Amino acid sequence: MKKILFISTAIFCKTAFCQEATIEIDSASKIIINKNIYGHFAEHLGRCIYDGFYRNGKIRMDIVEAMRKIHLPLLRWPGGCFADNYHWRDGVGPKAKRPGKVNIMWGMLPEDNSFGTTEFLELCSLIGCEPYMAGNVGTGSPEELESWEEYCNYSGESELAALRKTNGHPEPYHVRYWGIGNESWGCGGRMTPETYAQKFKTFANYLKEYPGSPISRIASGAENDDYNWTEYMMSHISPRWMQGIGVHYYTSIDDTRGPSAATDFGEKQYFNSLRNALIIDEIVSKHSAIMDKYDPQKKIALIVDEWGIVTSKEDAPDFFYQQNSLRDALMAALTLNIFDNHCERVRMANLAQTVNVLQSLVLTRGDSMVLTPTYYVFDLYKVHQNAKWIPIKVQSPNYDFNYQTIPAINASASIDSNGAMHISLVNLDLTHEIPITIHLNEWIASKISGQILTSDKFNDVNTFIEPYKVIIRSFSDFRKDGKILTVNMPSKSVVVLEIK
Ligand code: AHR
Repeated sequence: MKKILFISTAIFCKTAFCQEATIEIDSASKIIINKNIYGHFAEHLGRCIYDGFYRNGKIRMDIVEAMRKIHLPLLRWPGGCFADNYHWRDGVGPKAKRPGKVNIMWGMLPEDNSFGTTEFLELCSLIGCEPYMAGNVGTGSPEELESWEEYCNYSGESELAALRKTNGHPEPYHVRYWGIGNESWGCGGRMTPETYAQKFKTFANYLKEYPGSPISRIASGAENDDYNWTEYMMSHISPRWMQGIGVHYYTSIDDTRGPSAATDFGEKQYFNSLRNALIIDEIVSKHSAIMDKYDPQKKIALIVDEWGIVTSKEDAPDFFYQQNSLRDALMAALTLNIFDNHCERVRMANLAQTVNVLQSLVLTRGDSMVLTPTYYVFDLYKVHQNAKWIPIKVQSPNYDFNYQTIPAINASASIDSNGAMHISLVNLDLTHEIPITIHLNEWIASKISGQILTSDKFNDVNTFIEPYKVIIRSFSDFRKDGKILTVNMPSKSVVVLEIK
C-alpha cells in the first residue's frame, strides 16, 4: 500500500499523525452481492443449540427477533464435525420416541435429539431465512442423504413424504442448500481429495431435484490454503453435480486460547488477529483463481461455510464459548468487505456460530441474552444484501506495529434496489483517526447519513451487566464538496454511509 502524506490544512486532520486514504467509486456493476454472504452457522456444539437457540424445549423468540432484525438470510446446520455423525431420522417425530445418543464430536455429552429437522426448519421459518443442511458423508450413506432430501422436499405421495405430514408439515420444506459432508479431509472422515471426490460424485448422484424444489449441492472444501483440494475437486467434478465448493478459514489470535484471551489482550494480539483476518483475501483470491481455470463462467460458487475468530478452547468447560470485543467486530467488518468485493465468486459465507459458540452474534445466560459487537456489524451491513456491487479502489495509509504493516482502511460499496448507495468503511488503526477522501465521480449525493460502531477500547465488550457498551450510533463527521466526500474515520471503527 502506498503511503500518502496529508499536507492540506483541512480541518479533518485533527492529530499530529496525518495521513489520508482515498477511495475511487466506480460505476455500479451488474453483479449482485448475494445476501447469503451474510449467512450464519449453528452446530450441536456447546451451548449453540441447547441452552442457546433452544431452551426448555422451545425456540427462543428473543433470539429469533434479533436475527430477523439483521435480516439473517441463511443458517447452516447441524454441523460442522457433528454433521458427519448425525442421523436425521433420530431427530424427527414425537420427542419422547427420539433416541438418546452421545455427541462423540463434542465432549461425549448426551444428545437427546429434541432439536432435529422439524425444529431447525421451524427456526428458519420463524427467522425468515434459508436452511443449509450439511449431510452425513463420514458415517452416513447416499441413501440416508437422499431420504433426508425426499423427506424435506417431495410434494407427492411416498412413505417419507407421509412421515413429514404426520410430523406436522404437509407441504414440502423446499430445502435448497445441501452440504455433502463437512471438512471431509478432517473430522468428516480424514479423506484424501481423491477419496472424497469419488464419494461426492456418488452422494451427489442420488441427491436429485424433486419437482418444484431446486437444489444446490455443496462440496466440502479446503482448509485455509489447501489449494490442492480445490484444484482436485474442480478438475474432477463438473458444475452439473457441484454447484458450490466450501472453504474454511478461522482467524488465529497467535496466542494461548482460553476465557481471558477474548478480552485480556494488548496491541500485539489486536494487530496480529487483524493481520491474520486479512489473509482471507488471499485465500479467497487463490481458490477463486483455480476455480476460474475450470469454471470461467462462474457456475460454481465459492462458499466460505465457516469463518470467524477463535479465542476459546474446544473442550470442556469452554466448548468454544467466547466473549466478543470491538476487535472481533472490526475483524467481521473487514472480512465482509472482502467477501463483498469477491461477490462474483463468493456467493455464501457462514460465520461460526451464531449463539454462544466462537464468534457469536448472541450470548445467553439463563433467559437473558446480550448482543455482541459482531451482531451490530451484521446490522450495519445488511444494506449490502442482494444489492448491486460497486467496484471501488482504496488507497490506504499503513497501520504499522512491531515492524509489520497492514492497510488501515478497508471498504466495500453497493447500490440497493431503491437507488441508495452504501459504503462500509473500516479503520483498523488503533490510535489514529484517518481522513478518507472519497471521489464520488458520477454519483450524485444529495443526502448522506452515517452510522458508526466503535468504543473507547479495542477490547470493549457487551456484558449482561452492561449490554449496550458497543452499539451502533449515528455518525456525521463527513462533508461533501462537489464530487468529493471527506470522511473523518475515528480509530478502530466501522462506519456505514448511506448516499442518496
Ligand atoms: O466450528 C467448530 C468446528 O470447526 C466445526 O465443527 C468444524 O467444521 C471446524 O473444524
